[in-house]
Formats: sequence, C-alpha cells, structure tokens
Amino acid sequence: MYIEEISIVNYKNIAEANITFSSRLNCFIGKNGAGKTNILDAIYYLSFCKSFFTVNDQLNINHDESYFILNGLYQRSDSLETISCGLQKGQKKQFKRNSKVYKKLQDHIGLLPLVMISPSDVELILGGSDERRKFMDGVISQYNQNYLDDLLKYNRALMQRNNLLKHFAADRYFDEELLGIWDNQLVEYGTRIHEQRTEFVRKLIPVFQKYYTFISKGSEEVGLVHQSDLYESDFAQILKNALAKDRAAQYTTVGIHKDDLVLNLGDYPIRKLGSQGQKKTYLVALKLAQFDFIKEISQIKPVLLLDDIFDKLDSHRVEQIVATVAGEQFGQIFITDTDRSHLDSIIQKLDTDFRIFRVETGKVGLEK
Ligand SMILES: Nc1ncnc2c1ncn2[C@@H]1O[C@H](COP(=O)(O)OP(=O)(O)O)[C@@H](O)[C@H]1O
Ligand SMILES: [Mg+2]
Repeated sequence: MYIEEISIVNYKNIAEANITFSSRLNCFIGKNGAGKTNILDAIYYLSFCKSFFTVNDQLNINHDESYFILNGLYQRSDSLETISCGLQKGQKKQFKRNSKVYKKLQDHIGLLPLVMISPSDVELILGGSDERRKFMDGVISQYNQNYLDDLLKYNRALMQRNNLLKHFAADRYFDEELLGIWDNQLVEYGTRIHEQRTEFVRKLIPVFQKYYTFISKGSEEVGLVHQSDLYESDFAQILKNALAKDRAAQYTTVGIHKDDLVLNLGDYPIRKLGSQGQKKTYLVALKLAQFDFIKEISQIKPVLLLDDIFDKLDSHRVEQIVATVAGEQFGQIFITDTDRSHLDSIIQKLDTDFRIFRVETGKVGLEK
C-alpha cells in the first residue's frame, strides 16, 4: 500500500500543499520548525483519524484559519482509495472514504496501516506504564477490530466498579452482588484483552531482537517482558483475593489496567542504564518489529514514518536503519531531516526510487 498524493489545507503551519510521492522513499528536508513533522502528522491523521501528538483536534487547525482539510489518494491492493477529512472550528470532523462518510471512525482504523517512529517514542521508556499499555493497545487494535471495543467496555466497567467502591465507603455499606455485576464484565473483557496482549508480546520479542542486533551490529540482548496480575491466577479469583484491599483503597487495584512491559537491555532496565543512542536504537527496533507484526497480520506493508531519524544516533546506525527499510520487505517510507547531506550519502548507495522535498515555513517543494 502507498500514498500517491496528498493535499493539505490549513493543517497546522501547512497553509496549502499538494504533493505527489514516490511509492518507495520520500525525504523531507528543512530547518527546525519548518513543518516537516506536521506533514508526517497529516499522513498519520489520514490513517488514524487523529493527530499523533494531540487528542484536541482543534489544535490542528492553522491558528489563523477556521478549518483544515486533508485529502489522500492511496493505492491499496490494486484499488484506489480516496480518504478525506475536514474539520471546521467548533464542529465534529467529517471523515470520508471514496466520498462516503464514515458512521464510526473506528471502522477506518486498520484500513491504511502505518507505523510512526518519532523522538517522542522515548516516553515509552521514560514514561509511566500507561505509555506502554497504549503501545500494546495501539498495535493490537490495528489488526483486531474487537480489541478496542473490549477495551472501551472494560474501562467503562472499571469506572463503574470504582464509583461503587467509593459509594460503599462513603455510605458505610457493602453489596457483594452489586459489585459482582461489574466483576463479571471486567473478567469477560479483561481476560480477552490479556490473551491478546500475551500473544502479541510473545510474537513481538524475536522480531524485536532481530532488528536490534542488526541495527547495533552488536551482541546486546534486548528484553521485553509483559507484566500482568492475570498471570497469577484467573481474573475472577484475583478480583476476589483483592476485595478487602479494593474496599480499603476505594478503587480496583488489580487487573489489566495495571499491566506493564519491562524493557531491558542485557540484565538491566534500559530506562536507567541505556545511553541515548541505545534507547533510540531500542525504540526503532521495537517499532520495526511492530511494523513486521502489522504487515504479517494485515498482509499489507504499512507506511513507515521516520521522524528526526538522525537525532541521537550515529551515522552508522542510521545507515543500517535506512538500508533496512529500503529493503524489499518494506514499502513506502517517509524520512525527515534538517540536512540533506546526511541522507544523500546514504541514498546514493541504495538502489531505491526516491524523492526529496524541501520544506520551508509551511511550504513544500520537490527538490529531486
Ligand atoms: N495549529 C497551528 N497553526 C499554525 N502553526 C502551527 C500550528 N501547530 C503547530 N504550528 C507550528 O508548526 C511549527 C512546527 O512544525 P514542525 O512540523 O514540528 O517543524 P519541523 O520541521 O521541525 O518538524 C511550529 O512553528 C509551530 O508553531
Ligand atoms: Mg520535526
């Protein structure tokens, strides 16, 4: 799958751009603040119906304008798809596939698989466990339509159960049967979510290791361990065991909403001991593993966005990465950088179709 053309109107600092892409490698070169990441974000938006950076849609409209419009023309399994999105200030966005408005945005997720590698991925390592759950959930929901639904229902039941625990404490009252209604729901959805996450991590690990070894040309072992209360026993039993604790805490202390991923380099947590370059390598390898995963399940090569790839990595590692993603097993690639000399020396060695675009204060032009 690849994007043939995109047109952008008033998306962040991009006032107007009409770009025809290479089906393989596309590079955006420009100074800091020029709008390179904003273009990647527009591409991201057309796949996920939202920005990579913010849940507040209004922030994506150019400050001086009252709407934005994105249009993408995609080649997907031998058919052309036109995806368009418009957002008017203060209104709900409209998302269309071939001129037909989606009733549910969720129906669009997964149609145009995409993986974004961004400097902000470092939050996966440095941030709280919610970042790592979001990572798992984001990938799984791209290929499993029911997963997101289970997750929403789980979170709703969790909220209800927590409210009830608070009420019980405030009213000095307890009704086990009433609480049981929410327990049953948590168990139903949570068990399925647990199975999906377990399976995902199990399959991800060997691919992740393969990429890490390749990029670092080294022998470091990377580790990725899924931590979950649900490995201890079945979920219903775990809830039962934690009841006294939950009542005291006035919220649900166990469940898949507490899951985490332990990220190791060698025998140590990468958070504490990894250098910046090692962390970045770790994240790139993790995201490339994610790419393989989505590709295998969807049978479509996702679009790959590599934002600020030279940041914090030495040129050897970047060269390894670009050589990898220029290979047959990858599809369309987008790379941003501040300086084209980096990229030129790498691209010269590759036998890949490419285009280079210059980005300057919100304007995009073809350079080669
Ligand atoms: N809604 C918006 N309206 C206008 N400008 C915006 C908006 N959102 C972000 N920007 C501007 O976009 C610029 C950053 O663009 P970005 O794509 O991150 O640059 P880079 O080329 O460094 O990746 C900043 O100058 C920022 O102020
Ligand atoms: Mg940027």
